Amino acid sequence: MRNLVSIILAAGEGTRMKSALPKVLHQICGQPMIVYVLKAVLGAGCRKNYLVVGHKGEKVIETIGNFLPLRKKGIEFVKQNKLLGSGHAVFQAKKKLRGYRGNLLVVYGDLPLLTIRTLNRLIQTHYKQGNSLTILGATMEDASGYGRIIEESDGKGIRIVEEKDATPGELRINQVNAGVYCFRGEDLFEAIGRVRPDNRKREYYLTDTVHILGGMGKKVGMVMAEDCREVEGVNNRKQLVTVQKYVNMKNLERLLLAGVTIVDPSSTFIDSAVKIGKDTIIYPGTTILGKTRIGEYCKLGPYAFIQNCRIGNGVEVRASFIYGAKIADKAKVGPFSHIRPGTSVGEEVRVGNFCEVKKSRIGRGTKVSHLSYIGDAFLGKGINIGAGTITCNYDGVRKNITRIGDGTFVGSDAKFIAPVKIGKGAVIGAGSTITEDVPAGKLAIARARQVIKDRKKKK
Ligand code: UD1
Ligand code: CA
Repeated sequence: MRNLVSIILAAGEGTRMKSALPKVLHQICGQPMIVYVLKAVLGAGCRKNYLVVGHKGEKVIETIGNFLPLRKKGIEFVKQNKLLGSGHAVFQAKKKLRGYRGNLLVVYGDLPLLTIRTLNRLIQTHYKQGNSLTILGATMEDASGYGRIIEESDGKGIRIVEEKDATPGELRINQVNAGVYCFRGEDLFEAIGRVRPDNRKREYYLTDTVHILGGMGKKVGMVMAEDCREVEGVNNRKQLVTVQKYVNMKNLERLLLAGVTIVDPSSTFIDSAVKIGKDTIIYPGTTILGKTRIGEYCKLGPYAFIQNCRIGNGVEVRASFIYGAKIADKAKVGPFSHIRPGTSVGEEVRVGNFCEVKKSRIGRGTKVSHLSYIGDAFLGKGINIGAGTITCNYDGVRKNITRIGDGTFVGSDAKFIAPVKIGKGAVIGAGSTITEDVPAGKLAIARARQVIKDRKKKK
């Protein structure tokens, strides 16, 4: 691991996002954008990382803690109380770095596509050239919104001009500042001390350190990003969706190369943390989110929505919503079913057409094939649940439990008024409203007897 420390800027509000959520917490394929930046910086070997927080800082800290082990990864937070600019933000870390003599990687928190590879190229060049500062640049077709890198004609090195302060001539330059820098620590803080807020926004710009260090006779170098998409800064939701599309495509490519068939990548959305086994086929219109794990030989979709689930091998899910559930090997779900959190569907189970299952356990080989509601229930193995069966779990105050033993046969349109327990191998007559426990092996019929009467004749 390198003896390198990072400062990551994440204090801004992100006004252009027009959101109550701080910008760096906006998610891209299931992960806040700041987490992508942190992972890249950690991957480049930074052992100590100071994250500058300000706007809704507590929330930023808490959220990052849900995705990364802060202490283990050497992540510490520094407060920027007044948001006076990127230079001012970096300055807040000075106290923490007293006595530190090494190099500092400074990265803006809104660059989620930044790669470890590019960070490594920047750091290596910085060391090799013995620079005081090395900046990352990129050539953009449309440079609007970015600071432009100006190469001084008299060979006096480079400076960065922000779009708002640029002349029309400078605006035509398409070489932009990416917002990633490698500094020699002492030089950084000396230069920041000299930054003045003499610009249109009246902020302390970190970018001013580029010409300040040049003017001090220090060596300033530059590395160009090989792929300009990698340094796309996210300032508004239009850029967020561009970046999200790119990350989604990368996730799909990773899965395709690992042996997963994705029939139509353009209509498939898969979060970054999702894992899928080989020979699984994903049909169009499918979305798989969160920490979902899926086995091999599954068929998912068309139109499956799966979030935070554990799915075994050979499972089929068609046109259904499944959240926070476990689906065991060879189970079949859908079409048009809703499996809600806390549900465990056993091996070879069938939850069929138009069913809802909530917080229930369904044993191996049981069939819930049509139009049922199963809530707060424990269903054993090999049960047949007839069409339209409902567990009446809610009495207006409490949620009550239904237990049905192995091998029971439930006729269509049965209602179980919970709490109620059905023994193994029982038979429940179609249309029954079961209010009392049924012993094992017995037949229960609980419905009004049919009567046949003569019809009244019309006069
Ligand atoms: C910045 C650069 C610009 C560059 C672009 C790359 C400056 C002055 N400009 O512009 O040259 O082309 O990024 O994407 O640096 N932040 C703080 N505290 C502050 C202000 C900002 O922590 O007081 C953080 C923000 O949370 C953000 C980062 O610094 O993560 C960059 O700020 P932003 O406002 O997005 O800068 P840009 O206008 O994009
Ligand atoms: Ca930005």
